[in-house]
Amino acid sequence: MKRFEKKVAIVTGAGGGIGSAIARRLASEGALVVVTDLNEDAAGEVVKGIEAEGGAATAIGADISKKDACFDLARKAFALNERIDVLVNNAGINRRGNLLSLSDEDWDISFTVNLDSMFHLCRAVLPHMIARGGGAIVNTASQWGLYPAPNHIAYNTTKAAVAAFTQNLARDYAPDKIRVNAVCPGEIHTPMLEAGVTRSGRTIADLDKLVPFGRIGKPDEVAALVAFLASDEAAFMCGSLVEITGAQAVA
Ligand SMILES: NC(=O)c1ccc[n+]([C@@H]2O[C@H](COP(=O)([O-])OP(=O)(O)OC[C@H]3O[C@@H](n4cnc5c(N)ncnc54)[C@H](O)[C@@H]3O)[C@@H](O)[C@H]2O)c1
Repeated sequence: MKRFEKKVAIVTGAGGGIGSAIARRLASEGALVVVTDLNEDAAGEVVKGIEAEGGAATAIGADISKKDACFDLARKAFALNERIDVLVNNAGINRRGNLLSLSDEDWDISFTVNLDSMFHLCRAVLPHMIARGGGAIVNTASQWGLYPAPNHIAYNTTKAAVAAFTQNLARDYAPDKIRVNAVCPGEIHTPMLEAGVTRSGRTIADLDKLVPFGRIGKPDEVAALVAFLASDEAAFMCGSLVEITGAQAVA
């Protein structure tokens, strides 16, 4: 199925676990994918993989915590084919801590990377989508933004804000046929999750046991959901927060 033929899609954090899976999936369905990440080398490797599979992609290194970088990224993406059809705001960081243990810096950077980047990038991209008569934005929130896990006050609060941001954007721009939705993953096997597991002294097998489905999720499974939400098949989905958790309840 080629649901994104002739379309241009930007995927942030596309050098990482979930982002690279999303980039590969959209490219496999015909999109020209802008693979963007703070880690330019990782983005370049993802592009090589996509091209080896016969897909089209371009790597752009960008620190999307900076407003100027977001506008520059949108400008470069638009210049590729004079259109931006899909924006996947996926980049994120997870700084551990509760109110008293977290540093001011960790609180601030959590908001700049996880939330402000979406604000700036959406402002840079939306006018192009409106001018073309529509577009799709998919934001990566988290199950923890809806039901907080302990000791992650900054992460959980930013992800709750991503959910609210998604619903506000959807409400304001639905009349322009801009569909804005969010995915709210549970535990997904990526470098971010592995770092958390190592810190807590647990193993992936321990996490598997906490999920009623019997295992944690795979990046490709989130990518399939993101691709659906970004595609015309989800034509009436706008403002939805879609959980993908294997039925896990946050403990
Ligand atoms: N893995 C999980 O269990 C899980 C669960 C729920 C939500 N999420 C969310 O999914 C998204 C992807 O996470 P992941 O697990 O693939 O993590 P990851 O660490 O593998 O990937 C995140 C990517 O974001 C990039 N990034 C970080 N700061 C950036 C910046 N300032 N500018 C540009 N890029 C930057 C990193 O370089 C990295 O490649 C995140 O938003 C995360 O919060 C992950």
